[in-house]
Amino acid sequence: MSEKSTLVVSKIKHGTVIDHIPAGKAMNILSVLGIRGEKGDRIAIIMNVESEKLGKKDIIKIEGKWLEPRDFDVISLIAPSATVNIVENFEVVKKYKVSLPDRVEGLLKCPNMTCITNERNESIKTKFKVLSRDPLKLQCEYCGTIIYKDDIVKLTNYLKK
Ligand code: CTP
Ligand code: ZN
Repeated sequence: MSEKSTLVVSKIKHGTVIDHIPAGKAMNILSVLGIRGEKGDRIAIIMNVESEKLGKKDIIKIEGKWLEPRDFDVISLIAPSATVNIVENFEVVKKYKVSLPDRVEGLLKCPNMTCITNERNESIKTKFKVLSRDPLKLQCEYCGTIIYKDDIVKLTNYLKK
């Protein structure tokens, strides 16, 4: 028996496991994905468990849920180290490593209220250029406003499904 205490959480049957999330970020991931649990999905949130690669990590398991491509980009903004596992019949059938694109389109709100993307009568999709990955720094392509890692969660809030 290992010296380290472990936390055993059941395997899922069909669904998605988001693994290798930096420790403490699981709730942020759920928030930006708009997952609040009120639809009755079975969700396991495992936080601050031992990881070989990260020291400590978080894991999210969602039974019966499959993510869309845009969800992968949103996850990469908060957890660039994350892997997304697709589980069918208790087996991992696909494993993706998320990757932060060079340009983030239509996912984040620009915090500058006078930015053209916040114009009520326009329906311009926001576009941010990734200036730096670590630490994360993005710039609005329309007004030049810079946003940082800590701004991400509140700037994706408006997307909640
Ligand atoms: N998992 C699960 N239910 C299943 C299968 C897998 O909850 N039916 C979870 C595992 O607990 C793990 C993640 O999905 O957190 C990935 O599973 P697997 O690829 O088997 O684990 P590893 O090989 O350790 O993955 P990696 O190499 O990405 O660390
Ligand atoms: Zn802007």
